[in-house]
Amino acid sequence: MKSIASAPGKVILVGEHFVVAGKPAIAMAVNLRARATVETVEGDRITIRSKELKIEESFSPESINTRSPLYPVYIAADLARRHISLEEGLDITITSELPPAAGMGSSAAVSVATAAAVIALRKKINRGIVSKIAFEAEKIVHGKPSGIDNTISTYGGAILYVKGKGFTRINLNLKDVALILADTGVPRSTGEMVAKVRKLKARYGSVLDPVYESAEILACEVAKALEMGDIKTIGELMNINHGLLSAIGVSTLELEQLVYMARNAGALGAKLTGAGGGGLIVALCHKKSLPNVEDALKKFSKRVYIANISKRGVIIEHKTFL
Ligand code: MEV
Repeated sequence: MKSIASAPGKVILVGEHFVVAGKPAIAMAVNLRARATVETVEGDRITIRSKELKIEESFSPESINTRSPLYPVYIAADLARRHISLEEGLDITITSELPPAAGMGSSAAVSVATAAAVIALRKKINRGIVSKIAFEAEKIVHGKPSGIDNTISTYGGAILYVKGKGFTRINLNLKDVALILADTGVPRSTGEMVAKVRKLKARYGSVLDPVYESAEILACEVAKALEMGDIKTIGELMNINHGLLSAIGVSTLELEQLVYMARNAGALGAKLTGAGGGGLIVALCHKKSLPNVEDALKKFSKRVYIANISKRGVIIEHKTFL
């Protein structure tokens, strides 16, 4: 049996980090996807290869390398295999259009696609279960994630997410605007950035509590503005959100440079997106100022993307019974 599933990466428009502490955040699925091709094989080994990372690793009950970068994918595959009570081994090939360690949710997209492809070998996929399995893999990658990445990758579209409570869909009413992403080229670990913020919050709780309250109100206001198509407000609130993220220590000189380049070139708003410490910025632009912003960002960043929102979350692309 063989199946192929794909799942999208994401952009966090506002609320990253604050979401880990229970505040709402807004995420959108983008049209860059990770793909898992899964085939059943004899025996009980799960062999995984990543085309982008150029590595292959075999996991069996007697030999599990928990330090392998593919270990989280193994966990997603194994939990999914148990869910469908499959006793055979698996051969899994991962490909991804998403930049790794940059803030676009590539690890979650890989885990979501893997879990879905394995489940599809025997059952119709249940999105709740796929997301739950991917969350277990995300815990290995990031330590204590909020769950926003696996949720948006599973369900697609645009969502307002609250940890432990789930999500509300946002009906976007955006015309004549685009989201543009630019990569600092500095890789970082989400788990380390989340731990750094946790330490700062523990030390300066009473100082930072109002920042967290502010982030909560801001995310709700952005959700309303997205539904009303109020792009000026969205842009301004993105700028304010960037300031709040700087306050909790996750911005860097490179991120500030890209943010100010985008704003000076005519973006309605620009901020870091994801865990910070490197990775990407996201800017909201009028279509007419897009070429200007794109040119400005390209002077400093090797990877500049126009992010098209993807309504589609995880999908099964192909299924055969060999
Ligand atoms: C994840 O893409 C961004 C963070 O908010 C961490 C999380 O939500 O788990 C920094």
